[in-house]
Amino acid sequence: MPILLDGEKTAQIIKNELKEEIKKAGLRPGLAVVLVGKNPASRVYVRHKKKACAEVGIKSFSYELPAETTQYELMELIEKLNLNKKIHGILVQLPLPEQINEQKIIQSVDPKKDVDGFHPLNAGRLMLGLPGFRPATPLGIIELIKRYNLDLVGQHAVIVGRSNIVGKPLFQLLLSEHATVTMCHSKTKNLLEITKQADILVAALGQPRFIKKNMVKKGAVIIDVGINRLRSGKLVGDVDFDKVKNITEAITPVPGGVGPMTIAALLINTVEAAGCIH
Ligand code: GUN
Repeated sequence: MPILLDGEKTAQIIKNELKEEIKKAGLRPGLAVVLVGKNPASRVYVRHKKKACAEVGIKSFSYELPAETTQYELMELIEKLNLNKKIHGILVQLPLPEQINEQKIIQSVDPKKDVDGFHPLNAGRLMLGLPGFRPATPLGIIELIKRYNLDLVGQHAVIVGRSNIVGKPLFQLLLSEHATVTMCHSKTKNLLEITKQADILVAALGQPRFIKKNMVKKGAVIIDVGINRLRSGKLVGDVDFDKVKNITEAITPVPGGVGPMTIAALLINTVEAAGCIH
């Protein structure tokens, strides 16, 4: 039987730890959560993030702006948040409406409050192995693997999907954990030949049930980052879970795997930004 990597349970353990840290430090961490427009998935994510903040004792400051918000208006808000001493972390939910330049917004966040780890300064620090904020999904994945005591050192990790939010930062994090890392993407030739070599296979490409049983080595650890809603309404990952699970050593479910760990990692970053953890 494969180990089910329970992100829900692990996130709960982390939240309990953070609650204690916050109490011990006697601080009140503050997180600004900025949502522009009415993207339904973004609204759900933001709701989950704010709820998790409340659970551990982080005060969330919610900013919901209309879809027509200009880049200038959003930057003005971020400048105010950068200066607000009650706010230790700033999260601008992506994607942003098309009239707004996402990179300009990311770069306007004070790197010391960049709990998403998207600012080029933090991305560069990650690349160089220096301290800094790490993006939440990759950080949550590493946390999940470690808390299940699964091996990383010398393991061949294969990532499918090269996004700035997941694939690229996860590549660096796995490398800093001494894994041997291969990055695959939509133009990769002979994808199956590569995924079949993976000791740890990370699916982060956003295609429902893309990773099939014949692409997976027996005994591999499977991390599924995908959240895809089928027309039936069912949520599925990027891995064909029912067919793949039995040949794996361990696998994340969708939902209840990487998703809750992403939120837990955001909380870790926010508590760190507030100076509760040194
Ligand atoms: N959109 C999808 N994932 C994320 C994330 O981790 N942070 C933010 N801010 N937006 C996202």
